[in-house]
Amino acid sequence: MSFDFDREISRLDSHALKYTARLSMFGDKDVQPMWVADMDFAAPKVVTNALIERARHPIYGYTQTPESVYESLVDWMRERHGWAIQREWIVLTPGVVPSINMSVLALTQPGDGVIAQPPVYAPLFSAATKTNRTLILNPLRFDGQRYAIDFEHLESCAAKAKMLLLCSPHNPVGRVWREDELKQLLAIARRHNLTIISDEIHADLVYPEFHHHTLASLADNAADIITAVAPSKTFNIPGLGLSALIVPDAERRQAIMKILDMIHVNTANPFSLTAFEAAYRAGAPWLEALLVYLHETRDEAARFIAQHLPRIRLIAPEATFLLWLDCRDLGMNDAALKHFMAHDARLGLSPGSQFGAQGAGFMRMNIAAPRRAVMDALQRLSAAISN
Ligand SMILES: Cc1ncc(COP(=O)(O)O)c(C=O)c1O
Repeated sequence: MSFDFDREISRLDSHALKYTARLSMFGDKDVQPMWVADMDFAAPKVVTNALIERARHPIYGYTQTPESVYESLVDWMRERHGWAIQREWIVLTPGVVPSINMSVLALTQPGDGVIAQPPVYAPLFSAATKTNRTLILNPLRFDGQRYAIDFEHLESCAAKAKMLLLCSPHNPVGRVWREDELKQLLAIARRHNLTIISDEIHADLVYPEFHHHTLASLADNAADIITAVAPSKTFNIPGLGLSALIVPDAERRQAIMKILDMIHVNTANPFSLTAFEAAYRAGAPWLEALLVYLHETRDEAARFIAQHLPRIRLIAPEATFLLWLDCRDLGMNDAALKHFMAHDARLGLSPGSQFGAQGAGFMRMNIAAPRRAVMDALQRLSAAISN
């Protein structure tokens, strides 16, 4: 089977947020968009074909999720991640972010402490702040090359908290947490009776030198761990909106399902069900090819940055299609950096400060696009810095 990730596909007429929101986000509707974390690649043909087939049935009514959808996730978790989950543990949700928010609402009380580890994907902060919980920050440690969890500080945070939000692999810094790191984190959480929500949406997008461990698979008893997964990032179908929580503990599961029921988001749209199952059942060959392509792009980008962008340091990702760029040597504040990227380099990147104060001076660049476009972007950045 061959897959063409070099194919350039215009998204201009498809209401793609990454493209249409450029004017409001960057003050320029033509910057090269490398911000929103979706891919400029066609989704797997097996998914498109299944959707076309579903669309041929001209009635798009309410659905009841078939058992085969749950089974596709059970099989995927076993085959790709070596984790034997039970069908009963799965709660389908309309997205990972809503599912984290619902879990916070279901399992903590207003005022309770919720830990997040910045720099991190911003909705993990708002899962605490928008629900009137107390956000407790345990910033990652950064030695100039690599990020790590600050376990000492985590221990003191945990004493005041009820819940820990883990991003694994970690967006935006690209870390794949090692087994020993996850076990240490788990031990701290256990000492303080924390429930952990492990956002593993990027778990399938790991580079070959690294291995993702599902946190719950490392625990003898995973009752206090809630794992969020989805085919959305993996197969480039995030707009379809269907993800899953894996909740082994019946009591916690009931509490989350009560919220889903209360706000009435417990049925999925028919296209999301079709794509979810098709992707997990038949998308693996496409994913394998994607990972090879992304790996080559990551390495080519890294070489270019090392040779031509001496004032930018790449924190090379172990997972995800996102490059975390340390731009502090350019000596600009965040507003100036964003303006420079958009107006001088004509690039729409995610400002690092979006991920917390620790991200100031950094930029996140999405490289899930045809390689020519990624390399053009880096060339433009190099020329803009030289000027
Ligand atoms: C760590 C993480 N969690 C969740 C999401 C979004 O999930 P969803 O679109 O299913 O709400 C993203 C998207 O970038 C992400 O990086």
